[in-house]
Amino acid sequence: MVKICCIGAGYVGGPTMAVIALKCPAIEVAVVDISVARITAWNSDQLPIYEPGLEDVVKQCRGKNLFFSTDVEKHVSEADIIFVSVNTPTKTRGLGAGKAADLTYWESAARMIADVAKSDKIVVEKSTVPVKTAEAIERILTHNSKGIKYQILSNPEFLAEGTAIEDLFNPDRVLIGGRETPDGQKAIQALKSVYAHWVPEERIICTNLWSAELSKLAANAFLAQRISSVNAMSALCEATGADVAQVAHAVGKDTRIGPKFLNASVGFGGSCFQKDILNLVYICECNGLTEVANYWKQVIKVNDYQKNRFVNRVVSSMFNTVSGKKIAILGFAFKKDTGDTRETPAIDVCKGLLGDKARLSIYDPQVTEDQIKRDLSMNKFDWDHPVHLQPASPLSVKELSVVWDAYEAAKDAHGLCILTEWDEFKTLDFQKLYDNMQKPAFVFDGRNIVDVKKLREIGFIVYSVGKPLDPWLKDMPAVA
Ligand code: NAI
Repeated sequence: MVKICCIGAGYVGGPTMAVIALKCPAIEVAVVDISVARITAWNSDQLPIYEPGLEDVVKQCRGKNLFFSTDVEKHVSEADIIFVSVNTPTKTRGLGAGKAADLTYWESAARMIADVAKSDKIVVEKSTVPVKTAEAIERILTHNSKGIKYQILSNPEFLAEGTAIEDLFNPDRVLIGGRETPDGQKAIQALKSVYAHWVPEERIICTNLWSAELSKLAANAFLAQRISSVNAMSALCEATGADVAQVAHAVGKDTRIGPKFLNASVGFGGSCFQKDILNLVYICECNGLTEVANYWKQVIKVNDYQKNRFVNRVVSSMFNTVSGKKIAILGFAFKKDTGDTRETPAIDVCKGLLGDKARLSIYDPQVTEDQIKRDLSMNKFDWDHPVHLQPASPLSVKELSVVWDAYEAAKDAHGLCILTEWDEFKTLDFQKLYDNMQKPAFVFDGRNIVDVKKLREIGFIVYSVGKPLDPWLKDMPAVA
């Protein structure tokens, strides 16, 4: 029986391995992690991450051919194929700080593999890593090899949180990069045969190692660039009276452009886009490609600009001060259908409002109070380290409360900010919300999900990103 072990039981390792186990009943899959809490949760009824369909897949295979364990060494030494899906944070100090990937966890995983391996292994990079990481890993492994042969493959993951299971069941493509040697090609075939259990052959792309590593960074940079492009347009729409939804619709109809990822919003978030672009920027700079680095840097700058613009809209609309005013925040996760808050735009928006002394009442259907408080007290990039290495306890922010209902959040509030596009926010009773808010009552829709006309009829002053401005907001400065 082929044995697979995955190091790192996170948003990628957990769902990916659960789907491999489901689709390949003859393969034994063990997912290991240094975090005892995470593994305990994977073995319980309360999985550590929320992802539609995940629980069902885990329940079907857990205990049969899918195992979650903290016994990292045992499972690594027994496995034929080892996936590495550990954190790859942005470095916060030293060479490349603020841009380069911190490969501490990757390196320690590689050293541990070298220590415990007793037979030949295929080591698969699942984490998103800088180009040429495989080469570094190969060196660590071969210098400690004790005669054992290693083949390194790059198999970057393209799943999107919120639709991870669907994406894994029916991927646009699976990418496998390997050495162009006979042994390298043999390893590629071994991994390909795992995916071939359910992915059509024409969707499995095989490349050399560096192309696979770079393709992942490039794909995320292109995706983020689309969002920054439409968000840049949204600022121009607000200034000129055009409607960004109409512009995006018209632009997206061009088949060379396409309609996806053209929704203007308060900005992109998630653990990958910013990190991967910074990584790309660093690689460009290291290769002397300053202009290319600056081009991609601008994608992040527009994203920061968009979040600042949103905060400025809120403050300037409310008589240029939110000091002491209660503001309801609906949604904290970086997108709907996930509880993930890593790099969510809500963090910067909330920090901006708190900086102006607002009192915030936050509601998100999937994010805990502890997580929200932790996020608002964490330093930049701290979030991407294993939980036990993050700051110990969340600071208590006294101007902040976390509640479990949108109506409670909005009670007596002056304004309401929608920061995540959860479906349930579309069907809220806005009349009820309005009746219990201070007047004038404001709605700032950072995801363009509300019916602006209906809300204005109720009496709200409404701001939607990139839409013709409410008369109230005209002539009020909102440029960051
Ligand atoms: P995560 O933080 O959810 O999971 C990583 C896990 O690795 C943590 O549970 C941590 O405790 C564990 N870990 C760290 N060092 C370890 C070690 N030496 N031994 C055992 N376990 C160790 O991170 P996530 O989101 O799963 O991301 C993992 C990688 O996949 C990153 O490189 C990320 O850029 C990439 N990625 C993430 C996607 C996403 O949507 N979250 C999508 C595609 C790629």
